[in-house]
Amino acid sequence: MTTVYTIEDLQKAVSISKNEGKTIGFVPTMGALHEGHISLVKKCCEQNDICVVSIFVNPTQFNNQADLEKYPRTIEQDTKILEKAGAAIVFVPSVEEIYPEPDMRQFDFGQLDKVMEGKFRPGHFNGVAQVVSRLFDIVKPDRAYFGEKDFQQLAIIRQMVRQCNIPVEIVPMPIRREESGLAMSSRNQRLNDEEKSEAVNIYRVLSESKKLYKYKAVEEIREKVIDDINKIGSLKVEYFEIVDGNTLQQITNWSETDYAVGCITVFCGDIRLIDNIVY
Ligand code: PAF
Repeated sequence: MTTVYTIEDLQKAVSISKNEGKTIGFVPTMGALHEGHISLVKKCCEQNDICVVSIFVNPTQFNNQADLEKYPRTIEQDTKILEKAGAAIVFVPSVEEIYPEPDMRQFDFGQLDKVMEGKFRPGHFNGVAQVVSRLFDIVKPDRAYFGEKDFQQLAIIRQMVRQCNIPVEIVPMPIRREESGLAMSSRNQRLNDEEKSEAVNIYRVLSESKKLYKYKAVEEIREKVIDDINKIGSLKVEYFEIVDGNTLQQITNWSETDYAVGCITVFCGDIRLIDNIVY
């Protein structure tokens, strides 16, 4: 495995493989890698000749400076994990390398980025689109891998690829969960034992709602999930919305879509966790 820090070195390394007609798979990450990332890397290695992974904590997608500063940075451990998982090239650029000058691009994703995360983290998805489009332009992958935990991010990246005609196949990967059901996330590292034991209830309550949904109205399920989670310790639901999985617009009736998804964000103490469930 090769670790490169500049665009020039990355492109040199990738072009050797491209010239040999090899396919390039790409997994963009912000590091602090866990099993969820590893499943993306493994799938990427399976489906492509070369797997490129980037580790870059992208400042333009944080609308909260404290969150950016607290984001776990575990580069040495990450590199070891990636080597074991089979990545060929790890790209670890500096902020200046990715943004030699401020990125002023404003993407228009219609309603997709106005709801849920977009409402609570203004500018977040514009920052995600800036960095992902920039990384796609640098790496020029044939396929790129994203986890379904960040359900809205995945929808927005698909939309960006369509809008900007980027020749890359987006491959979604299912949420990886700990044995307790808690969705794997880099932020879990910041949960203490008590918070972790509370956080497992997010998926428990979502799963229970899936068992009940056929017998109850959308709004009843929505309110029940919020109430049940808010009763537990330090958990505080920021939003829970049941949406059409393609348009991300709220539904009021189950018959409106055959792809209903419940998307949730919960504060566990001061740690913000997200999860979702397909009904
Ligand atoms: O999902 C993430 O880790 C980030 O949003 C991404 C896609 C690597 C862009 O910084």
